[in-house]
Amino acid sequence: MRMKLLAPVTLMLAGALSSTSYAQDKGACSLEISGNDAIQFDKKSLEVPATCKEVTLTLKHSGKLPKTAMGHNWVLTRSADVQAVSDEGMKAGPTNEYVKPKDARVLAATKVIGGGESTTIKFPTTALKKGEAYMFVCTFPGHSALMRGAFTLK
Ligand code: CO
Repeated sequence: MRMKLLAPVTLMLAGALSSTSYAQDKGACSLEISGNDAIQFDKKSLEVPATCKEVTLTLKHSGKLPKTAMGHNWVLTRSADVQAVSDEGMKAGPTNEYVKPKDARVLAATKVIGGGESTTIKFPTTALKKGEAYMFVCTFPGHSALMRGAFTLK
């Protein structure tokens, strides 16, 4: 009788413990950022541990305006490239999600979303170096000066 009771309890505990450690690993390598109708990201910087092989990034749009008027994307590049990537991305237009096609300076990029929408990307950290200065930016026309921040692999 005792054995019958103990076995399921032990299994439940083991399950709870393993899901907790999994959640922590996943948590450190998972980022979330939100853009609003006032051309702002809710975070000025993002960082992930260098131990992350892959980063999961979710971009949310907390506003109400459509993506044609207040679109947001999330583009990762070296800080030194942020202006050129933004300028050329803007010129690439909405059919390219405001990212110049095959731009090697773009290390990761989401599509453009509008109010109430959300999008998630995964990207490997193999192209990133610890100590290098990176920035994320929204390349929607007129947004790159306001919507940008530091990205660090620490
Ligand atoms: Co934007």
